[in-house]
Amino acid sequence: MEHIAVLTSGGDAPGMNAALRSIVRSAAHYGIRVSGVLNGYLGLLEDNFVDLNTRSVSNIIQLGGTILRSARCEQFYDPAERARAATTLTNQAIDGLVVIGGDGSFRGASRLSIEHEVPVIGIPATIDNDIYGTDLSIGFDTAINVALDFVDRLRDTAASHDRLFLVEVMGRDSGNLALHVGLGGGAEAILLPEQNLQTKEAAQLVIQAKQPGKSSSIVIVAEGAYEGGAIALQESIRQHCGFEVRSSILGHVIRGGSPSTQDRVFASRLGYEAVRKLKAGEYNIMIGTRKGEIVLVPFGIVTANVKDIDWDLLQIAEITSQ
Ligand code: F6P
Repeated sequence: MEHIAVLTSGGDAPGMNAALRSIVRSAAHYGIRVSGVLNGYLGLLEDNFVDLNTRSVSNIIQLGGTILRSARCEQFYDPAERARAATTLTNQAIDGLVVIGGDGSFRGASRLSIEHEVPVIGIPATIDNDIYGTDLSIGFDTAINVALDFVDRLRDTAASHDRLFLVEVMGRDSGNLALHVGLGGGAEAILLPEQNLQTKEAAQLVIQAKQPGKSSSIVIVAEGAYEGGAIALQESIRQHCGFEVRSSILGHVIRGGSPSTQDRVFASRLGYEAVRKLKAGEYNIMIGTRKGEIVLVPFGIVTANVKDIDWDLLQIAEITSQ
């Protein structure tokens, strides 16, 4: 293995740059050259590469976003486009690829690896922490801490006015982020996509959140928990239940900012392991973590399964918010 490439794909996550830094410097340690692919898979299709050396990744461990930039690349679903990407890698004399991204990115990575025998390794990075096979993904820890800071601030306002707030956090298909923010923020209710809530049940949970004797109530709503999110839910409660609630949508602000210590350390570990595994000839796998240990999970298993939420945590949140 003499020359590898790295790309960041899908929604950016704090800690992607820390992973990139680790890959470049670990590769340098083993005498391997690294090329960065710009704009995710699009860069493979457009032959858009930059040389990376130990100095090009100076001063980025603390930066959010991704210096390689990222994209959601629809074209990569097309087998002909993937074939073009494989040819580009061959022409650039690249003999291994590291993909930093989420499960959608790993689906593309897996196909590229299987169809064209490109050695590809995946590093899980998404604030949603919804990737099967790993307890954690890069960016999750930072995002929940940023979201919690906002929830704590809203609690001050809610308590001053005796109000109920709906706080919407990202998570189109997964409630993992909302669940952790809800439990950590002492939310009186948490609404998740995994609960498959109908309007009536969602409204009921919000009404129950307004508990007697409490000066404030916070309901954490995952983006995908309710059709139309917190705003639609707020309106439906106003119409059908006749009481006022306020909504706050945290949105993309929790995806930005400087990565937490945990995300920096985790990203550094995964980047280092990715280089070592590629060097050892192991590929078509994601490098993740379970119970604190590094694990290798075949892309086939990662992409064929859906990560469930920890239902025990939801129960703890319910019991401890009374
Ligand atoms: O996949 C991560 C995620 O943050 C989801 O929770 C959210 O639904 C989505 O990205 C938003 O994507 P975009 O930034 O493309 O609007």
